[in-house]
Amino acid sequence: MAQPILLTGAAGFIGSHVAQALLARGESVVGVDNFDPFYDAALKHANLDEVRATAQATATPDSFECVAADITDAAAMHTLFERTRPKGVIHLAAKAGVRPSIADPVGYAHANITGTAVMLDLARRAGCDRIVVASSSSVYGNSPTAPFSETQDVNAPISPYAATKRACELIGHTHFHLTGMPTAMLRFFTVFGPRQRPDLAINLFLTRIAKGEPIRMFGDGSMSRDFTFVADIVSGVLAAYDHIPAHGYRIWNLGHNHPVSLADMIATIETAVGKKAIIQREPMQPGDVQRTWADLTRSQAELGYSPSTSFEEGVAKHWAWLKSRLG
Ligand SMILES: NC(=O)c1ccc[n+]([C@@H]2O[C@H](COP(=O)([O-])OP(=O)(O)OC[C@H]3O[C@@H](n4cnc5c(N)ncnc54)[C@H](O)[C@@H]3O)[C@@H](O)[C@H]2O)c1
Repeated sequence: MAQPILLTGAAGFIGSHVAQALLARGESVVGVDNFDPFYDAALKHANLDEVRATAQATATPDSFECVAADITDAAAMHTLFERTRPKGVIHLAAKAGVRPSIADPVGYAHANITGTAVMLDLARRAGCDRIVVASSSSVYGNSPTAPFSETQDVNAPISPYAATKRACELIGHTHFHLTGMPTAMLRFFTVFGPRQRPDLAINLFLTRIAKGEPIRMFGDGSMSRDFTFVADIVSGVLAAYDHIPAHGYRIWNLGHNHPVSLADMIATIETAVGKKAIIQREPMQPGDVQRTWADLTRSQAELGYSPSTSFEEGVAKHWAWLKSRLG
């Protein structure tokens, strides 16, 4: 196998899509995932089946393997780096999600902060030439300045999850300062599309509306998110991997720059499914921000990042995928 890229969180939603895109362009990929019980491991194994199918279709069918291991287990990770000798790292594994982090701040800190520190340290020891790390738009908190730009102050996260992601950005900066290893931090804005995590609103709402079950709408419907289709995120991750050596340490927003309100999001889903939602109104949840909105000036200029999937088109693609699974 050619010198691989180590991809953490490979069995997850974004990770499995990134794995396929890397394989499709001829890379070898070593995945790592601990099949965290946050959601059904069967879904993650199904994601990996898709990745293996992509590998099989390439000229080098043995170009993908996925190891079941925990990124916080430094000894296991050390053994993995020694055995596979990756040239670079794309680190997406994390405990994801704002609301569950409020009930488990210690677990989130351990997986996300300790896990990232382990990956950075081992990438240094192994002599990797770059590392790309998943951050999140949640680091912007309830910033009054929008769209959100990478240059603005982000010292007021409002959930444990957001705080862990900001901590990773800071640890990543120290890592770059001390080692010189090109280090990219990617602020993803609410990602959706096939294989989306089942806890996230679009997947959940598509499923429940299709089944005629009620959905919970938090707040008055004006809360908005800069929903970004997964294929656009994947193009940004690969571009960041390719361009980070020219930048040293860099934070990039990967969003869509077209925020959609919760009310409009539900209306789009109703149109896609062809059914009206049964809406249960509930108060805003602690930790939820009022809006997200990516300024893409930097990622467009430096990565050529240009998301091309409209929200409506993305929801239609997501629904086409989900419908076949719901039967
Ligand atoms: N989906 C989004 O909208 C979004 C937005 C912003 C940031 N992100 C970030 O993008 C990354 C991928 O998110 P996703 O939506 O694909 O989530 P996901 O939960 O589908 O994928 C994350 C994967 O990491 C694995 N994992 C968790 N803890 C681990 C550990 N200790 N060791 C090894 N593997 C572990 C999980 O089993 C999972 O398969 C995460 O870092 C997340 O915080 C996602």
